[in-house]
Amino acid sequence: MSESVNVLFVCLGNICRSPSAEGIFRKVVEAAGLADKVSISSCGTGSWHVGKAPDARARAAAARRGVDISDLRARQIQASDLTAFDYVLVMDQQNLADVQRIRERNGGTRPELFLHYGRSSHDEVPDPYYGGEKGFDTVLDLIQEASEGLLAELRKTLN
Ligand code: 4NP
Repeated sequence: MSESVNVLFVCLGNICRSPSAEGIFRKVVEAAGLADKVSISSCGTGSWHVGKAPDARARAAAARRGVDISDLRARQIQASDLTAFDYVLVMDQQNLADVQRIRERNGGTRPELFLHYGRSSHDEVPDPYYGGEKGFDTVLDLIQEASEGLLAELRKTLN
């Protein structure tokens, strides 16, 4: 059992999938009354978008579900994140390989595919960046379901 837990979502750019996961999971945690016990952040493996707000399409899709992610700003993962965060949840196999490479050199929390906490047969949140608007709704559906599974998991470890 622990008093609190912290969760890091990781994608490639930190402007589409992982900030969406941060926003949706924060809403799920707040609805469960656990906001003071769970801290949530996100980052990207790449550096191209550092400092930028989430993609306009991701902001709009989240807003349609009552989630405001417009204040988030992209940052790149650092080796120290793997020691700072209890859960490091990646969106796809490429993110997993990239974070595993960091962990091989520096140790820390073992990264996992976020969708392992979902019930669907998908194990990757597809990159929506080069697709249309609809891709962003698919991303949010997958994130919502995995967020509920993750909440159930965290409830087991929190006091
Ligand atoms: P994300 O999406 O990893 O979900 O933030 C992407 C954002 C930007 C790029 C790729 C994926 N990009 O190549 O710039």
